[in-house]
Amino acid sequence: MGDLLPWRLAWQVALYGSDGFYRRASGPAGHFTTSTHGPHAAVLAEALGRLADREGARHVVDVGAGRGELLTALHAARPDLHLTGVDVVARPERLPGGVAWLVSPGGSDLPAELRDLTDVLVVANEWLDVVPCTVATVRGGRLVEVDVDVATGAEAPGGPLDPDDEAWAAAHWPADGLPDGARVEVGLTRDRAHADLLSRVRRGTVLVVDYAHDRVTRPLPGTLTAYRDGGIVDPVPDGSCDLTAHVALDTLDTDRVVTQREALRALGVTGTVPDHSLARTDPLGYLGALSRSSAEASLLAPRGLGGFGWALTRLPRSGATGAAD
Ligand SMILES: C[S@@+](CC[C@H](N)C(=O)[O-])C[C@H]1O[C@@H](n2cnc3c(N)ncnc32)[C@H](O)[C@@H]1O
Repeated sequence: MGDLLPWRLAWQVALYGSDGFYRRASGPAGHFTTSTHGPHAAVLAEALGRLADREGARHVVDVGAGRGELLTALHAARPDLHLTGVDVVARPERLPGGVAWLVSPGGSDLPAELRDLTDVLVVANEWLDVVPCTVATVRGGRLVEVDVDVATGAEAPGGPLDPDDEAWAAAHWPADGLPDGARVEVGLTRDRAHADLLSRVRRGTVLVVDYAHDRVTRPLPGTLTAYRDGGIVDPVPDGSCDLTAHVALDTLDTDRVVTQREALRALGVTGTVPDHSLARTDPLGYLGALSRSSAEASLLAPRGLGGFGWALTRLPRSGATGAAD
């Protein structure tokens, strides 16, 4: 074996190091599809515009903005909103003028300039799943770190967990009763990154959206997965692929977690297929409506994007504003 590192450290360098995967020109959309890509973007942007209105926000901040796909759609749908993107690369050239941009260190770290936000809706779509976390495995009833060869992805059992990770696992994903070899993805780095994001907002709403599990659905074999060029590949932390693991949204300090399907339905997204009679009277209009309804259905699909979790938090937490609904 070559150089072995705990997964969390190898993952950080692989995605956000100087040659990291997320610094590549291709950007996330070159490798996988999210709710902000292609025809999804317009539907999601309009729904988020309605959410911003409901929450009294005049400013939308997109954390983990990729190459500005969602912001571009938001700018088209809602030119009245002030928009800011945050990601690890320089401001994308094709971003509409007037959209602000902050360069971020990456992973759990956010830029210092992101602070004191007011009347804001902060959206982080698929950010926390790429915040590297400790990967542990059960050996003889105890959790140890999983180390990885950075060149090949070969794994070996490592040292004991640090006390904070151990405490997180004991509280949220205990090893008791798990078979040897079961994996635990320790969510502490995600909890802390989310808490840091909340601390940047004086008044507003934070929405994080991700592949989620909770206490009753923790995945025994773990979920660490790699993507490259539209397909799933072996997870190797060499900067050649995305590395992602589902998020324990239930352990974040949030007001409420609902599915994307529930949230988008409440914001007026229906997935209704247009009446076929429109095809005779307005063929182009019919095709447009059909493409829109198919994007809506994809965002609502219970076993697909509709199954993602939406974790909403209103700030300040004084209780005066009530829970997000
Ligand atoms: C899975 S992609 C999702 C991109 C986009 N939100 C979407 O839904 O298509 C994750 C993005 O988060 C960015 N990212 C990771 N850590 C970040 C951080 N601390 N601050 C800002 N962006 C970050 C990555 O560079 C990448 O563009």
